[in-house]
Amino acid sequence: MRLNAYLARAGVASRRRADELIKAGRVRVNGAPGELNTDVRARDMVEVDGDRVRPQKLAYVLLHKPGDVVTTARDPHGRRTVVDLIGRRPGIVPVGRLDADTTGALLLTNDGQLAHRLAHPRYEVDKAYVADVEGRPDAGTLRRLAEGIELEDGRTSPARVRRLGPSRVELTIHEGRKHQVKRMFEAVGHPVVRLHRSLYAGLSADDLKPGASRELTTEEANALRTLVRRPR
Ligand code: URA
Repeated sequence: MRLNAYLARAGVASRRRADELIKAGRVRVNGAPGELNTDVRARDMVEVDGDRVRPQKLAYVLLHKPGDVVTTARDPHGRRTVVDLIGRRPGIVPVGRLDADTTGALLLTNDGQLAHRLAHPRYEVDKAYVADVEGRPDAGTLRRLAEGIELEDGRTSPARVRRLGPSRVELTIHEGRKHQVKRMFEAVGHPVVRLHRSLYAGLSADDLKPGASRELTTEEANALRTLVRRPR
């Protein structure tokens, strides 16, 4: 494992900040100064400013995000974050983002490689959203959403669309552009009133109370790894 990844897993700092610590000569590996390209193995001794550090166990947490918290590790405005909700744990960060007012399934992990792949568009991880919208979208509108909508940052990929009620639609997409679902509905004249993520990579948080979280089972974590083993 690269030294910066080791330090991130140990909860010392983000990878970028870890690189700064390494460059500043504050990190030693088996007594010798660490380099940016130093490869670290389990038996190696890593010290930061003379204190020994060790990587944490990999953790995968599924949160039912409530509608009044932000999806960042720290908020400059002091608002409550998803990381506060799960009880701050070293190196555990959200995978991707939900808007502050969006509820539903959010995964948090300290497994940097898995997080990177899950969030990368080439792995096409499915996310299902239930949107309550203004007005009553007709069949033609739902078809347009399914076929792809021209947005200012390009056309959206084909989506799966299911009507759940006169003003309630389930939309399954694999992209993760900023405010994507809200922008798609806005573009067809039905602004979103409420947005809930019902599934993330096959995981639902709907059996948890809003604000509650749980660890993934080994099978669930393995299934995520299998899902992103190869790009689609
Ligand atoms: N699309 C949005 O518009 N908002 C979210 O939070 C997630 C997807």
